[in-house]
Amino acid sequence: VLVDGEPVVSCLLPVEQVRGQEVTTVEGLADNGQLHPLQEAFFDNFAAQCGYCTPGMIMTSKALLDRNPDPSEAEITDALSGNLCRCTGYEPIIEAVEVAAAEMDGGNEGGD
Ligand code: FES
Repeated sequence: VLVDGEPVVSCLLPVEQVRGQEVTTVEGLADNGQLHPLQEAFFDNFAAQCGYCTPGMIMTSKALLDRNPDPSEAEITDALSGNLCRCTGYEPIIEAVEVAAAEMDGGNEGGD
């Protein structure tokens, strides 16, 4: 999840510590049933994996694109370095973030 826009490890964060802060979940990225460009890109690029790692990958990518709308591959890799998946590869994930960044046209999500 994002707490005030920063990715945190939700399973290690007691809920009382987020009192008064904005918490955004992966479900909260969709807008009236319209998936966020990152969600679309993960789906379209076969980057969606299991329910444990994918929300973290997407939310960490959201925080990255909010502060750096046009990240390099190295910057994406660095941002996601704390999100581990032991099951498969990271290439589709990195590609999905690149696609979403391009789709978001420099971070403009069309309304924020
Ligand atoms: S697919 Fe999610 S941890 Fe590997």
